[in-house]
Amino acid sequence: MTSAEIRQRFLNFFKERDHKVLPSSSLIPFGDPTLLFTGAGMVQFKPYFLGQAIPPHPRAATIQKVFRTGDIEEVGQTLRHLTFFEMLGNFSFGDYFKEKAIPYAYELLTEGLGIEKARLWAGIHNDDADSFAIWTRTTDLPPDRIRRFGDEYNFWAAGPTGPCGYDSEIHYDWGPEYGCGRDDCGPNCEHCERFLEVWNLVFMEWDRDPSGKRTPLPKTGIDTGMGLERLTSIMNRKRTVFETDLLRPLIGHWEELTGRHYQTDDRTDVSLRVLADHSRGAVMLLADGVNPSNEGRGYVLRRLIRRAMVHARRIEATQGLSSSVPAVAEVLATYYPELGSNIQRISDTLKAEEDRFAIALRQGMERLEGLIERGSLNAAEVFYLHDTLGFPIELSAELAKERGTGIDMPAVSALMEEQRSKSRSSAGSFSGPVSRTATRFVGYDQLESDSRATEVFPVADTPGLLDVFLDVTPFYAEKGGQIFDTGWLTWEGGRAEVADVQYQGEAIRHRARVSGRGLDPGTAVHATVDPARRAAIARHHSATHLLHRALRDVLGEAATQAGSAVNPDHATFDFRFGRALTGEELDRVSRRVNEKIRSNLERQVSQLPLKAAIESGAVALFDEKYGETVRVVSFGDWARELCGGTHVERTGELGLALVGPDRSVAAGVRRIELHAGESSEAMLRTYDRTLTQLGELLRSGVADLPARVESLQAEVKRLQKEIGLLRQRIAAGGGVETTEVEVEGIRLILQRVDAGPQELLGFADHALQGANGSTVAIVVGGRSLAIKVAAPLADRLPAGALVQAFHAVAGGKGGGRGPVGQGGGLDPRRVEEAFQSLQSFVREHLRPS
Ligand code: SER
Repeated sequence: MTSAEIRQRFLNFFKERDHKVLPSSSLIPFGDPTLLFTGAGMVQFKPYFLGQAIPPHPRAATIQKVFRTGDIEEVGQTLRHLTFFEMLGNFSFGDYFKEKAIPYAYELLTEGLGIEKARLWAGIHNDDADSFAIWTRTTDLPPDRIRRFGDEYNFWAAGPTGPCGYDSEIHYDWGPEYGCGRDDCGPNCEHCERFLEVWNLVFMEWDRDPSGKRTPLPKTGIDTGMGLERLTSIMNRKRTVFETDLLRPLIGHWEELTGRHYQTDDRTDVSLRVLADHSRGAVMLLADGVNPSNEGRGYVLRRLIRRAMVHARRIEATQGLSSSVPAVAEVLATYYPELGSNIQRISDTLKAEEDRFAIALRQGMERLEGLIERGSLNAAEVFYLHDTLGFPIELSAELAKERGTGIDMPAVSALMEEQRSKSRSSAGSFSGPVSRTATRFVGYDQLESDSRATEVFPVADTPGLLDVFLDVTPFYAEKGGQIFDTGWLTWEGGRAEVADVQYQGEAIRHRARVSGRGLDPGTAVHATVDPARRAAIARHHSATHLLHRALRDVLGEAATQAGSAVNPDHATFDFRFGRALTGEELDRVSRRVNEKIRSNLERQVSQLPLKAAIESGAVALFDEKYGETVRVVSFGDWARELCGGTHVERTGELGLALVGPDRSVAAGVRRIELHAGESSEAMLRTYDRTLTQLGELLRSGVADLPARVESLQAEVKRLQKEIGLLRQRIAAGGGVETTEVEVEGIRLILQRVDAGPQELLGFADHALQGANGSTVAIVVGGRSLAIKVAAPLADRLPAGALVQAFHAVAGGKGGGRGPVGQGGGLDPRRVEEAFQSLQSFVREHLRPS
């Protein structure tokens, strides 16, 4: 049976039993900062169990994406562990409890999916006598196949606090041939893997507080979870999840890439399993918007990608996880649109991350393997690998463990701490190994150069990617907050696109994608910087100088730079200031910056001794270390700064600068975003279009939009309040008073309601719903009246006549057409009397003459 069929059968089974099928939630838990990832199907339902929100339906069924980080190192080593998997679950929120959850599960497994009854066992909690009674009463599972355990196996909680309860697990018996043969062998056996837990039925009963105290939930509930991969393996008598149609195609992808075969050699198998699992894990995290980074979720993703690269290298695959995106999509995209619609982005992000790590990996692995072989892997080496080569410590630890040696982790941590305090005391100074000859940067005055390649290295595991060192270069390497240049290198018979430029010591490394003939050291290379991108970067860099000066003009000299990031499409500028700026201050800063743009100030650059530069009024950064001679960039004689970056020749090139609002990024540090040149033009176009659309949607002039939105918000608030009142009223019986009489075979329903004139017909409609064809609804609210006559009766008894008869006694007036009539101005005290008289009217009107 395919996994697709299993999904369908599971959902159908519960749909037929009145469960609402709901979509999987994201792997990033929504509004739950206590969790890194969604690790169970119940995560999205926590508020329902706790009674904090009302579910759309008291019963639900889902197939939930799950990511568990507990045992990343175990994945691949064992046959069962997975980071990403899918969980089939049925849920009851205050509806059924154990008495239904147990027989449902047993029925689905045996009758619904056809699993042999003789293979099923159950585990229950020692203190849960109910479950034993229910298992034996509602199913034919023999009592001797029900085992009892303590909290360790049969108590489940979503975390240290929150909903929790006893559970009952259903186990599958692969058969004695897989067992340890002991007398007491059974579910949760510590000696063998004969039994596999398939389904966990949690009986949600308590809310646990941080001290561990359990208080009963407002209502008990059910939360079950069954791994789709495990179930598929059982249904197909495949011993491991890796042989199912959910994971086997991914192993196949790596087999194809490497020409190796699964299940021929243990070490290869481990790597194939790691790659199969991590490709799903990484791709699904990326699909939900996680990006590789150095902390939190992003770091888990980064670990997956790097660990996968180690294993790809081990089986001599030339590509990393980025190559497996189509294979993952083939298996999962049908069920997860967030994957299908992001394939390109996911592949690109993986590729970029892999390129970034490739060198560190190659160098690190070689060194590490040598050290392990020589038995000289000590803490200092592990630290060096991490600090100088960027090789993650946990990878070193894992690889060392595999080879049967360990790492002195406390000693590594001590070295890390020492390094941190050292770098605090010498901020800014360069402390890496300096081995290469310095590259001469000529890019201040020219965007092209005739250079010579001094060194060329292929980037490990990434065919076509080279690290090129030149004697001279016009490429600006990332520094001082300004991003690197991109562009092209050309040489006889070949060409490369430069994608990243960084300092390595005093040498400049160009990372470039080659086409055509390869590049050897000593070759003459023509280097060309992408001029449009460089110009856009220069505009944003100059904009930060203008902003810095303007801020100090407006706020005082204490507003000093704390950092900046200059890109082609925007820049951010951080400065020290103890409070948010007022709107008026921001206006003044923005006016000042743009005034200086319109003055078209000329840029001057001079090299000065540091002391002279400071005396000339140039702004130096407090945290920065400068050499003897410094470069000073000024615009007119207004903005003067020590700076190594590239700039426009005249401020007029900025066109217009958009100075964004300030926000806090750290205690006492504010950040402003800047746009200049074509990106400010693009922003303005977007604003203009958006405002025009908003104006049309809200039928308001642009200047009146804030007032219009405010009044809509007030209206929403008022309506919400009214809904709240109505809900209360409905809960208290609806505020409807009903009297019914029958006259000449006609049912007259009088309702007095607490509602306004426009709502009365709604009540009348409601009263007629499901009533027979000879019914009339008369609804009175305040001084208003609505009458509705059931359609078949309307010819004989027009609503207009009834309205008039009513008002004749109750006062006021009204009219009608066909089955519908309305009126107003009646005297509420005379309704009873008017209703009596209406009855006489009907009697007279219909009596056979
Ligand atoms: N929440 C339980 C589990 O994850 C059952 O779904 O095992």
